[in-house]
Amino acid sequence: MSANGSTVATGSQRRFVRVAAAITATGGLLFGYDTGVISGALLFIREDFAPLSDFIQGVIVSFLLVGAVTGALAGGPLSDRFGRRPIVLLAAVIFAVGAIAAALTPNVGLLIVARFILGLGVGLASLIVPLYIAEIAPPGTRGALVSLNQLMITIGILLSYIVGVAFTPIEGWRWMFAVAVIPALILGIGMFLLPESPRWLVKNGKLDRARAVLSRSRVEAEVETEMQQMEELERIERQQAQVGYKELLAPWIRPALIIGIGLAVFQQITGINTVIYYAPTILEVVGFSAGGAIAATALGVGVVNVGFTILAVRIIDRAGRRLLLLIGLIGMTLSLALLGLVFSFESTSGAAGLLATVCLALYIASFAISLGPVFWLMISEIYPLNIRGSAMSVAALCNWGSNFIVALTFPVLLAALGGAGAFWLFAALGIVAWFFVWFLVPETKGRSLEEIEAAMRGTTVSTSRVG
Ligand code: BGC
Repeated sequence: MSANGSTVATGSQRRFVRVAAAITATGGLLFGYDTGVISGALLFIREDFAPLSDFIQGVIVSFLLVGAVTGALAGGPLSDRFGRRPIVLLAAVIFAVGAIAAALTPNVGLLIVARFILGLGVGLASLIVPLYIAEIAPPGTRGALVSLNQLMITIGILLSYIVGVAFTPIEGWRWMFAVAVIPALILGIGMFLLPESPRWLVKNGKLDRARAVLSRSRVEAEVETEMQQMEELERIERQQAQVGYKELLAPWIRPALIIGIGLAVFQQITGINTVIYYAPTILEVVGFSAGGAIAATALGVGVVNVGFTILAVRIIDRAGRRLLLLIGLIGMTLSLALLGLVFSFESTSGAAGLLATVCLALYIASFAISLGPVFWLMISEIYPLNIRGSAMSVAALCNWGSNFIVALTFPVLLAALGGAGAFWLFAALGIVAWFFVWFLVPETKGRSLEEIEAAMRGTTVSTSRVG
């Protein structure tokens, strides 16, 4: 029974979590936008600050990833210590400062610093957004709500293409960076109005505040069950001497740690960012003309990514995480293998171009329903509350680290193996990823975070839940 006597959440209760998730996911939009914007901006930065060596251009691009690694490493422990909300606010401030600095930079040195600052925001947001949403979401819709983050990442990437095209006539690379201030303000002001995560509040003994936050989105029976589950686990956690990074070494955490790190690395080493950002180059090799057609295809990649992420959001709580991963990885692997085959023919015929386009679309669609959303979702679900932030940091760090290494080595890989070899290598890694998921990754749909944690600890918590 809820405060108004109902056993079904009211419209305003359902709306609260949705609005909270949507506001927080603006952090995902900034993640996507700031990682994507550089491909359009670089064309003009290169001219304004000419001469720019290839190396310096690489530094401008990759310093965002260096910042992201740093942000990911710091975000988790900071959020365990100070709360989730202050870290989202911190990310918003960093995004705004980074955007203004990049837009106003008088020289390349400061641009590199600005890219690092933006990267810090991206790294922080990449883990704190799913973490906060997972901790306020009810179990039955947690998958969809947390995956709003991935949806916003894909929308951010798409927007960065569109803004890039829009400012091209005036060569307005500074504007391309500057517009990111708007979502940063939305994130900051929105988060200012949202409450702290109820789970962090329970962990810090603020039970009344936690109950009040939960009551804004649940009927009373659900609030009571979740509070009871959290308090039961809190008692168990308090008996353990170790907290923070040391606890990460405890044997019972190891399986979850391996799952998070494995998914983090597989998300990157199966080639997603090389395909997204090299799509125009890939199509050029198989016979597309440069220019408009290529820009249109890049937009197409963005649209397919957004479209299939919407599908994932809609089905993830019914289909489950495992099934999506297993199906998506088959699609990714097959499309990569076929793409490699097209490349091996070294043909520039219309048929080769068409086949390559279909493969690219299938690959992106398959990623968008599997490793894209599910990685960030799962790492917000599988770790125990007392170390959730720190453990997510480790997974996010591995993701950004792998992203960096793939970006750095892809040109070398291409030179050594050729297009066909590179795609076949990604395909082979896709097969390894499939077996990893099949043998190690559990299903988490429909269970509360406390039920997932209790199962890992080999214990149980009360489960009388409504709805
Ligand atoms: C990945 C990013 C990738 C994006 C593409 C995210 O989940 O972490 O590396 O660029 O998906 O949609």
